[in-house]
Amino acid sequence: MDNLHHNQHGVGSPLFVEGHNGVPASEPNDGFRPALRELTNMLQRAFEQPFDVVDTSTGCLVHAGEDGLSGDLEARLAICAEVARRGRPEIVDDVAPLLMLAVPLPAVDEEPPLVAVSTFVTEPVDQEDQVRAAARAFGISADEVLHWAKAHKHWQPHAVLQLSGIVLEKAAGLQEESQLKQQLVDVSANLLNTFEEITLLHRLTQKLSLSSSVVELCELAVRWLAELLPAECIAIKLERVEDIREQHELEFIEEQGPVLIVHGDCPLKEDEFDAFLHQLGPLVRTDPLVMNRNVTIGSHWDYPSVLDLVTVPIREGDNFFGWLMAFNHTGRVLTPNSEAEFGTVEASSMSSVAALLGIHSGNVSLYRQQAEFFASVVRALTSAIDAKDPYTCGHSDRVARLSVCLARRMGCHADDLNTIYLSGLLHDIGKIGINDAVLRKPGPLTNEELEHIKTHPELGHRILNGIKQLDKVLPVVLHHHEAWDGSGYPHGLRGEECPYLARIVAVADSIDAMSSDRPYRKGMPDEKLDAILHDGAGGQWDPHVINAVFQVREEIRRIGREERKPLSLNVEKWQLFPSTAAEVAAVLT
Ligand SMILES: [Fe+2]
Ligand SMILES: [Fe+2]
Repeated sequence: MDNLHHNQHGVGSPLFVEGHNGVPASEPNDGFRPALRELTNMLQRAFEQPFDVVDTSTGCLVHAGEDGLSGDLEARLAICAEVARRGRPEIVDDVAPLLMLAVPLPAVDEEPPLVAVSTFVTEPVDQEDQVRAAARAFGISADEVLHWAKAHKHWQPHAVLQLSGIVLEKAAGLQEESQLKQQLVDVSANLLNTFEEITLLHRLTQKLSLSSSVVELCELAVRWLAELLPAECIAIKLERVEDIREQHELEFIEEQGPVLIVHGDCPLKEDEFDAFLHQLGPLVRTDPLVMNRNVTIGSHWDYPSVLDLVTVPIREGDNFFGWLMAFNHTGRVLTPNSEAEFGTVEASSMSSVAALLGIHSGNVSLYRQQAEFFASVVRALTSAIDAKDPYTCGHSDRVARLSVCLARRMGCHADDLNTIYLSGLLHDIGKIGINDAVLRKPGPLTNEELEHIKTHPELGHRILNGIKQLDKVLPVVLHHHEAWDGSGYPHGLRGEECPYLARIVAVADSIDAMSSDRPYRKGMPDEKLDAILHDGAGGQWDPHVINAVFQVREEIRRIGREERKPLSLNVEKWQLFPSTAAEVAAVLT
């Protein structure tokens, strides 16, 4: 092959065409990329004669112009190398009527220095001696020159230089335009990708509120990520979940064990995830991991169905919640220059989503801790009341549940149900400040003792005053001994002057006081209690509340009969949000 080219062009032996064993000379490894081939073609079109292209560092002929007037390049290799170094077209030899033009081809990166070379006839070939001398100097036969000169244009040296310069400039302009177009395509694709990612994050942030369940947010995340990423499956594995759910209009937090959320065609079975993540090593708990089939196709990989993989930890500070994962590339490329494999684009999008999920999980966890702390305070106070007056043990809890039962019947809002439950638990908190001897006196009280006991609503108000979470409880604590007809204490409020919730607790308080056994008396029979409540409607008590009592009479009796366990301060046993009726009712049952 080499000899064939050399013979055709009369080029000396050191020059040869690369691409042995059938590999074309224009393969990328010879530096003769399509842009340089096009530039060579432009030169050929402009001058209407062929150009050879030579690698001046090796002497290799990387492109041979067909049927050209090829001069001896080997002898002029050094000067061609200098042309390549200077970067502008030059005449490397000139023996009238022949001249050789060398045009440097622009190199990028580590490309070899290439020069396009062509031999021109500069004037009519009417002096045979002169032609023979020039042909000899150029290593071409005189007949070839004579033949060539008849069929081709004569070129003046300055015109050759000028036109080759123009062709180079035009090629550079076209190259720049092509690069700009490619950049535009790349930027557009990247923008689109970024836009989709931002849209996804925006949609997720709109769902970020404490009322949003972590699991529901994760379900949205995997679904939306599946639209964005070229993955066959998106999955989230949460080690544990502290979640907020709505139930019976009351909000509470529950903790669940591991949760797996999968969208798409998952290459792993549910029970394989733990071992799979364990095999990936401890770093996947802190850093993103990207693996593609160039790594996974190997004997050391135990999960042949997992060809490509991205894992990103879901964390918030030091808290680790789980992993966001993408499995198996679909082959769809996100940007024109990207490969059909997972990389930084996918890992970056997933990290952004994982960060949001981590923040939300962290917030829910913090919210749960605060709620538990608040619960522990309320329970401590309630326990303190019961400890102070053991004769009425469980009274606070029963009043709380009776109040919720009545309030629910009367159509109170969920927020008010929470408030009235807390109010029931804490309504007698002021008894902490009452003299033990008076509080525990088994017989009738003197007037003085009675007046002392009657200070407990105001004492309770003072104790709880300033605790922001109990602001709504304060009026109930202060007024739970007011009467509908104004005969109650401490302020003698009449009718609806007394807060609504306090009027409900007043009834619940009375029902429990009358129906409970005391050391010095048995609890009142149901019939007698009903009669007293009936007679007291519109006098002692709000008639609307008494009306509700008779609508839920059976439930009230059940609450009164229930044996209750002592209140526990072991927060580990508290599974539900503590400030709600549903929660405490469930825990204490
Ligand atoms: Fe009281
Ligand atoms: Fe009470």
